[in-house]
Amino acid sequence: AETLRIALAGLGTVGAGVIRLLGENGGLIAQRAGRPIEITAVSARDRTKDRGIDISSYAWEDDMTVLAAREDVDVVVELVGGSDGPALALARKALAAGKDLVTANKAMVAHHGLELGELAESQGAAMRYEAAVAGGIPAIKGLGEGAAANRIERIYGILNGTCNYILSEMESTGRDFADVLGEAQALGYAEADPTFDIEGVDAAHKLSLLAALAFGTRLDFDAVATTGISRIRAADIAQARALGYVIRLIGLADCENADGSRHLFQRVAPYLVPVSHPLAGVGGATNAVVAEGNYSGRLLFEGAGAGDGPTASAVVADLIDIARGNVPPPFSLPVSQLEASAPADPGN
Ligand code: NAP
Ligand code: HSE
Repeated sequence: AETLRIALAGLGTVGAGVIRLLGENGGLIAQRAGRPIEITAVSARDRTKDRGIDISSYAWEDDMTVLAAREDVDVVVELVGGSDGPALALARKALAAGKDLVTANKAMVAHHGLELGELAESQGAAMRYEAAVAGGIPAIKGLGEGAAANRIERIYGILNGTCNYILSEMESTGRDFADVLGEAQALGYAEADPTFDIEGVDAAHKLSLLAALAFGTRLDFDAVATTGISRIRAADIAQARALGYVIRLIGLADCENADGSRHLFQRVAPYLVPVSHPLAGVGGATNAVVAEGNYSGRLLFEGAGAGDGPTASAVVADLIDIARGNVPPPFSLPVSQLEASAPADPGN
């Protein structure tokens, strides 16, 4: 069968993880995909950087957007980051050229997902972003495909590994916020600008994607009421504990009032979680996504929410789907059919 040829833009934590995974599990991936998946070209900022991986057999492009024009590329994999700038330019160019797009970039999809989704649809190209939400957890597939028969009543969960790592480390060791944040950065969990993590913005990006998928509503990142964890101190955690709670940064969305009318409520904030609740036991960079479906009942997806291996696993799962020809619309419904739901007043 024909090889699926991919170009990789971004060779950092996630990009290097993808190269390692395709190398180490290449045989079984080809078997499951029904054909080999091979990297033909790559791009990043610094060609000479030691990344601990061998990129000598791939073509190099200084200008990453050129990847989208290469004839030996079927799928562009964007692992650069940033809602705009080169990542967006590359995504637009790839889809406009009819190439499939795989991205881990929740900021870009939260801000430009509808435009990119429409472009993908008009070009008959795939747009996949499993790695953008909750690292290695197949949350997009779980909601968009596994739970597709359900009316989803509510989704909530722990959507940022860095914050969960900070909160649970502070809780178990009593260490200082800044100290633990530095560690999360060193472990490759944090965004290039960690303010996005600790101010709840990254979790809000992810929540807006999950809400669009779960409720069939248009993406509305701007309507997410967002509070981060930067003001939480060890004393808050100790006091919560004394009252029988832990503190977790939770993203929560629902879409129906008690009278059946539609709204879209989206909030990210630190919540007090009773120690007996399943989310209280979610520690480290683990994420958890809970979806309540009207036939499935409560679904709980839990797993590593950040880091090279888990995120690469999600990127390559998207590639396997593309190789198999499993290409659902980016938001479960064609973009034109997504509901323009009035945002609920979050009451802030
Ligand atoms: P990273 O380690 O900072 O890597 C970013 C890569 O992009 C680097 O190779 C860098 O090049 C390249 N790059 C950055 N700006 C560029 C520019 N202007 N022009 C050309 N190349 C540029 O980031 P990461 O952690 O891998 O994250 C990549 C994406 O995955 C982001 O969208 C992030 O939100 C998402 N994500 C990350 C995780 C995680 O756990 N890290 C999990 C899920 C999703 P150099 O290496 O040459 O500097
Ligand atoms: N910075 C993100 C996190 C990476 O900590 O969850 C995974 O999306």
